[in-house]
Amino acid sequence: MADETTRLATAAAPDGTTDVPEHLRRELEEAFERTVGGEGRVEPRDWMPEGYRRTLIRQVAQHAHSEIIGMQPEGNWILRAPSLRRKAILLAKVQDEAGHGLYLYSATETLGVDRGELTEKLISSKQKYSSIFNYPTLTFADIGVIGWLVDGAAICNQVPLCRSSYGPYARAMVRICKEESFHQRQGFELLRTLMAGTEAQRAMVQDAVDRWWWPSLMMFGPADGDSPNTQQSMAWRIKRHTNDELRQRYVDMSVPQAEALGVTFPDPELRWNAERGSYDFGAIDWDEFTAVVKGAGPCNAQRLAHRRAAHENGQWVRDAASAYAAKQEARRREGVAA
Ligand SMILES: [Fe+2]
Ligand SMILES: [Fe+2]
Repeated sequence: MADETTRLATAAAPDGTTDVPEHLRRELEEAFERTVGGEGRVEPRDWMPEGYRRTLIRQVAQHAHSEIIGMQPEGNWILRAPSLRRKAILLAKVQDEAGHGLYLYSATETLGVDRGELTEKLISSKQKYSSIFNYPTLTFADIGVIGWLVDGAAICNQVPLCRSSYGPYARAMVRICKEESFHQRQGFELLRTLMAGTEAQRAMVQDAVDRWWWPSLMMFGPADGDSPNTQQSMAWRIKRHTNDELRQRYVDMSVPQAEALGVTFPDPELRWNAERGSYDFGAIDWDEFTAVVKGAGPCNAQRLAHRRAAHENGQWVRDAASAYAAKQEARRREGVAA
């Protein structure tokens, strides 16, 4: 969306929100609706409704925070990886997650917020991250299960976001999804290796699956009836499918993979429904989900304390970078003056 009307309005009111005469505002809204409705892309300099901007900031920031916090449960096993090969894979994966966080913080900055501000909101619990990362990684099998189930759920959620209406978010997702598919495959490969091992190794995998299955279903968010923002996000084409649609797709995809692996999911109600052409599954414990989202999960305090400490320990780097930039700027000015 970058027609003349939009450009004019952007020049008149760079924040896209105020000081636009009423008649022009209506035209802008219509142009925005046309772009979104016609599968076009909204770009940072385009006019957009304030609600659209706020929804995107919330969603993309939460996504960025999840990538960064998600480094912790797996980082826990880098020093204890059982072989050099596994260590190299895990290092690469955790490093990818850092990269995902950075792309997404950059995408959020195009909406007029600052990354420092977002970090402050994360460490003061004003913004959330995915509830899944508040569970502990107890054995090395958890690394395989996270790759298979958690990155698998992330792929289900994120592939449709490659067609999200906001350009910078959609483009970031294309690259992220390619890396997520490597994450899922390395997890599955790790689990296959363990399943071909000893009885104790197989039991370790099953135990990890038992602990991660339900939290991974919660990654899709509340049931559609309890997800107040879904309809608006779908109308704006920020989201392309509802939480329950994506969750069902994930269950249908995961069951045959579990069979191939030789593990079971801890759900006695899980069975094929020929009429629907999908798997039925048991009720999710939404009380647990709410408690974890509100901060009472097993690792919430630890994850935030670690993130806060990392931020504080990095203060000297930010100070040094700012001092260097100020010095460069002063030199540039002297050069211009001379
Ligand atoms: Fe990621
Ligand atoms: Fe990942």
